[in-house]
Amino acid sequence: MSSPAADRRETPEGVAYFIDKKPDPADFLADVLAGLSKSSKSVPPKFFYDETGSHLFNKICETPEYYVTRTEVALLETYGAEISRLAGPSRAVIEYGCGSSLKINALLNCLTDPAEYLAIDISKKHLLQTAEDIAGTHPTIRVGAVCADFSRDLDLPRTVGEGGRRLAFFPGSTIGNQAPEEAEQFLKIVRKTVGHDGSLLIGVDLEKDSKILNAAYNDKDGHTASFNLNLLHRIRSELLGKLNMSQFRHDAFFNERLHRVEMHLVSLCDQEISVGGQTFHFANQETIHTENSYKYTVDRFTDLAMSAGFRITETWIDPDCLFSIHYLEVYGG
Ligand code: AVI
Repeated sequence: MSSPAADRRETPEGVAYFIDKKPDPADFLADVLAGLSKSSKSVPPKFFYDETGSHLFNKICETPEYYVTRTEVALLETYGAEISRLAGPSRAVIEYGCGSSLKINALLNCLTDPAEYLAIDISKKHLLQTAEDIAGTHPTIRVGAVCADFSRDLDLPRTVGEGGRRLAFFPGSTIGNQAPEEAEQFLKIVRKTVGHDGSLLIGVDLEKDSKILNAAYNDKDGHTASFNLNLLHRIRSELLGKLNMSQFRHDAFFNERLHRVEMHLVSLCDQEISVGGQTFHFANQETIHTENSYKYTVDRFTDLAMSAGFRITETWIDPDCLFSIHYLEVYGG
């Protein structure tokens, strides 16, 4: 992807280019079959984010229990001037996993004359909506969009950052959805992408009282449960899987020893489901492990950042110590 070969039919109004590298639907089937064949069944969390899943995730972000989004946005607003001073003017901002435009708006509003914004997300509809929103509200910024699985090493258009140094933005503690070894690899990719004079602004959820964490992943309105169960809907509708949705339930809990919230789909009986011509047996209470959400202390995140070649220039934490934002620069850059 050396030059931005835009898909002109789909590029929204005001957006300079759109590149579609959406993973092949065959990848979904292959990963589901591989995950269900393991002795401890699992499916990667990236498959939550079809159009419905992205919509449900936005609903989760609005629940009173899920403190993550509102705490992070408040931090961005409170410390905007400091972030802007560290970042300097005319940055090319690359956002990994753009979701809704709430957080990127907060960042772009505090930066001095940002030159570019590149949104990367696996969910095409949400990506294009965010890119269009930002192009509409920030007409002086050159906006681009890439639909892709951002955890892979992406070859971004060479033109990104021609007018200013690259600043990667990875909000929402999405880093927590990767195991620490994968997170380190991903941060190394980001370091390579931003280059020696680049930086990274990242949101990281903090380890805390399990009551707060358990409530955040079991909201009373059931949006997290619907988000988790949507994976089974996708298996049924897109992979023509044969399964009974009412024979599974959502489960989420903080695993203190491993510093992570785990999400599972629990089988409510002894049963068989079939997908892609294969049959999978579930014992009563057996689970499909669908997500980990790792929680960090500042020290543990500092070690992770350093092992990936970054140094932390500044950390901001809310008064209740729920969430952290870190400004990272390339080590020796
Ligand atoms: C996107 N990610 C950081 C969310 C999290 O908190 O791990 C996804 C999520 N899963 C359940 N609720 C929210």
